[in-house]
Amino acid sequence: MIHQQKGNGVANGKIILLGEHSVVYGKPSIALPFQAVTTQTLVTTSQEKTEIHCDFYHGLIDDLPELLESLREVVRLCLVTLNQESTPINITIDSQIPAERGMGSSAAVAVATTRAIFDFFKSPLTDELLLEIVGISEKIAHGNPSGLDALMTSGHRSVCFIKNQPPRDIELNLSAFLVVADTGITGQTKEAVSSLSKKLETCETGYFQDIIDKLGHLTYDGLSYLQHNQPEKLGQVMNQTHNLLKELDISSPELDILVNSALDHNALGAKLTGGGRGGCMIALAKNKDDAKNIAQELKHAGAKQTWLYEMSE
Ligand code: PMV
Repeated sequence: MIHQQKGNGVANGKIILLGEHSVVYGKPSIALPFQAVTTQTLVTTSQEKTEIHCDFYHGLIDDLPELLESLREVVRLCLVTLNQESTPINITIDSQIPAERGMGSSAAVAVATTRAIFDFFKSPLTDELLLEIVGISEKIAHGNPSGLDALMTSGHRSVCFIKNQPPRDIELNLSAFLVVADTGITGQTKEAVSSLSKKLETCETGYFQDIIDKLGHLTYDGLSYLQHNQPEKLGQVMNQTHNLLKELDISSPELDILVNSALDHNALGAKLTGGGRGGCMIALAKNKDDAKNIAQELKHAGAKQTWLYEMSE
């Protein structure tokens, strides 16, 4: 197979507006592409062996630490699929998506790297194959992924997503801004997902399943408020969702501090986003001035980084 001098691949971050965790159990989720942060992968020829260069590691793929096992699997799957296992390549990954903060960084790395390897070997890559490869690597990273991160980091559309169903596009038409804030603390998606799964398995009263069901209903309510431009009501749904996620032990003191600070400073609603137990939170603001003010207050309350997101296209 011929290859080019260079292969490039890009992916973006994602924000879960509603439905994290309950999405793993067949409930709906609403997610937004987050193009303010991206991952780029560059593939070039290597002299002898395949090498990886990224923030966390520089060296041979054979010596990659266990923490990056999902990345090794992406590369292996791509090369096997392309029949290029014996072609050494140089992979450089540059990501502005903060790692393990609920923005889909591991999926974005997998998406950008798969795209770059296929581009390097001048081979077309269908969305189905991309999602399949990324899905396998996400199983290693997360244990039991819903597939939402793979979809969102590879696309530019806001969606309502239910596991194992085709995603439904949503047109964003809400007169409001979202403030995204990073606690600076590594989230623990894998641990949070597996501890919730244990709770559901061992609880005999159905208490935790009820919470999952409530999260599902709230997400449908939120979808309706989003589509009918009702930011105040959407904000209330976000608050209720955060409280339920807290009951599932998915939040953390740092996330709660930021959520409370946003609510103290005129946010219409606020919640954690993504896997939780650290990572990022989001707050809904009536307008851009409120959003800027909330972002500033969140920094005073400990946020390491903030972004504004306009909720209309
Ligand atoms: O922390 P992130 O960005 O990987 O988001 C995980 C979202 C979950 O619903 C908790 C898990 C999943 O696979 O959907």
